[in-house]
Amino acid sequence: MHFTGEHILSVKQFNRDSIAHIFHTANQMEPYALRTKRTNVLDGAILGNLFFEPSTRTRVSFGCAFNLLGGEVRETTGMQSSALAKGESLYDTARIISSYSDVIAMRHPQSGSVQEFANGSRVPVINGGDGANEHPTQALLDLYTIEKELAAHGQHINGMHIAMVGDLKYGRTVHSLSKLLCLYKNIRFTLISPNELAMPQEVVDTIANAGHHITITDQLAGHLEADIVYQTRIQEERFPSQDEANKYRGKFRLNQAIYTQYCKSNTVIMHPLPRDSRSDANELDNDLNLNPNLAIFRQADNGVLIRMALFALTLDVADKVTQYECEVPWHRSR
Ligand code: NCD
Repeated sequence: MHFTGEHILSVKQFNRDSIAHIFHTANQMEPYALRTKRTNVLDGAILGNLFFEPSTRTRVSFGCAFNLLGGEVRETTGMQSSALAKGESLYDTARIISSYSDVIAMRHPQSGSVQEFANGSRVPVINGGDGANEHPTQALLDLYTIEKELAAHGQHINGMHIAMVGDLKYGRTVHSLSKLLCLYKNIRFTLISPNELAMPQEVVDTIANAGHHITITDQLAGHLEADIVYQTRIQEERFPSQDEANKYRGKFRLNQAIYTQYCKSNTVIMHPLPRDSRSDANELDNDLNLNPNLAIFRQADNGVLIRMALFALTLDVADKVTQYECEVPWHRSR
């Protein structure tokens, strides 16, 4: 894939070469993300960071990633505080914001909305999540995390076993990650969800057509002996009613006792976050926090590296980052 000036809307745009290129660029971002060095390569550039749906880490990490490359961030959060609430079209908003920005990151509750927005934009648009459809930057950071975590165990993505758990119907992160994993070989997928929240058939077909092995179940017990367990939150905001969502709260909880009983001794636990820590949900218990195989915070940290890489590639500065390097004068507590 050629990145310069391109929108990033779907994982379907990537192949193994483009992924290797993104991951190589992400590795080079580490000293800047860790603040051992600074770079001003994007000095003067502006990111339009438009989040029309709740977000903490995706929104802030897009902003941090741009700042860490020396650029500035302009942000809107929420639908009600934007002109979309006055009936403005996505196309018009895109025309306007794209003349104020060099690149735009956008999240919106409707499937296909970011593509529609991109049609009106004169600068690259990066999809930060469009409804239950896709979340390509999350899938890249998930894949980057899987590769790193497995490498630490001497394993590879080809031939791994991944169990995806929870709301596989509305969870866009598992949709995008599953599609991205179709670029690899011989993966065992165990899809664990209530029947009503099963992985969409289109995604199951894509996995099957890639030659992977699939087990579909509504039972957690006995199905967690995987290399990666990817837990998810019930996507309450996408259900037709709160009552409907409540039926599934707390159905698939993972805690240390369950981990000890059903997982392998080195099963890596991932979650796109936020984990729902309310007592009646609690899909990933705090008692796992000391488990060294809990990768969720490393996973979130990797989001900054991946988003820095995507900005550097999209704005064609990946090979100029060191040229614009400078010292970090302040005290770093980490
Ligand atoms: C996910 C999302 O927004 O799809 N969060 C994220 O971006 N890290 C998952 C979720 O909200 O449950």
